[in-house]
Amino acid sequence: MRIVSGIQPTGNLHLGNYLGAIRNWVKMQDEVAASGGQSLYFLADLHAISMPHVPADLAANTREMVAALVACGIDPDKSILFNQTQVPAHAELQWLLSGTARMGWLNRMTQWKDKAGKNREGASVALFTYPVLQAADVLLYQATHVPVGEDQKQHLELARDIAQKFNNDFGPKDENGEAAPVFTLPEAIIPPEAARVMSLRDGTSKMSKSDPSDMSRINLTDDADTIMGKVKKAKTDPEVLPGEAKGLEGRAEAANLVGIYAAMAGCAVDAVLAEFEGKGFGAFKPALGELLVAKLAPINACFIELRQDRAALDAILRAGGERARALAAPTLAATYEALGLVRG
Ligand code: TRP
Repeated sequence: MRIVSGIQPTGNLHLGNYLGAIRNWVKMQDEVAASGGQSLYFLADLHAISMPHVPADLAANTREMVAALVACGIDPDKSILFNQTQVPAHAELQWLLSGTARMGWLNRMTQWKDKAGKNREGASVALFTYPVLQAADVLLYQATHVPVGEDQKQHLELARDIAQKFNNDFGPKDENGEAAPVFTLPEAIIPPEAARVMSLRDGTSKMSKSDPSDMSRINLTDDADTIMGKVKKAKTDPEVLPGEAKGLEGRAEAANLVGIYAAMAGCAVDAVLAEFEGKGFGAFKPALGELLVAKLAPINACFIELRQDRAALDAILRAGGERARALAAPTLAATYEALGLVRG
């Protein structure tokens, strides 16, 4: 099993990032290591330039994201942790796959349609070819499994389509005329428990770094008092908690807080409700706050320390980049070869 996944470097990491993606990466890292496989996790900094961006922020966010990943449990000895920029083969393979990807395929991508909006003429070429770079990211390492959120499923299917067409069109033929695949077809893994964490002020919108109210989210930099304060001020309703999940329907804020509790405790929503049935938020909120503080305190301490140690962060990325370049080299060479490109 070889797991490959990427995340765009954003600043202001919060509980939604942790429960949505990062925690699942840590779990998969440990499972894969136990079974003798390999996990590669990278910061998709090359993808970040497909939208308008501030260079100094991108550099700072890249380092901040490494600090967060390590604080949350990504172990640079168990996983290969790096940023795309340090492995030029990502950009090279993207170009090599651009001869195989079809305009029609990219035109159907919903993320392209959403992000370009009405102004397609003004969108960057990188935004349009973004999914080809994403395909290169995983095909380069012969990934077997790619943990992603639901919104990335379509990009993974595209990566499979590109791999299949390339194998068909250019895979070297053996003596029976059968094409030997150049690329492994990767499978998406969409974790069922990828909790969708909603804003603490509005249970119908996602917890987000760009929400103007800091009270809407729990940041990885928040100390214990701040976390307790935010949980106590979280929006709720006047009802008591029901005995099972069905009773939370139509109660977005209540469902969100119970969902966060279950995710942090590592148990089912029904188990949380069995414990708090009939209790109001006056009782539930302090319990949730304490649970969050207990689970996030070690992450917070590590994050705060590591994010200011630029030398340590750059060393992690450099070492990961070196290992990734070595793993990428044979597939990149085979791709050039299959296309008839002479490297001398
Ligand atoms: N596009 C992904 C996202 O926005 C990030 C990403 C880039 C990625 N390359 C990848 C995810 C390769 C999985 C595999 O979330």
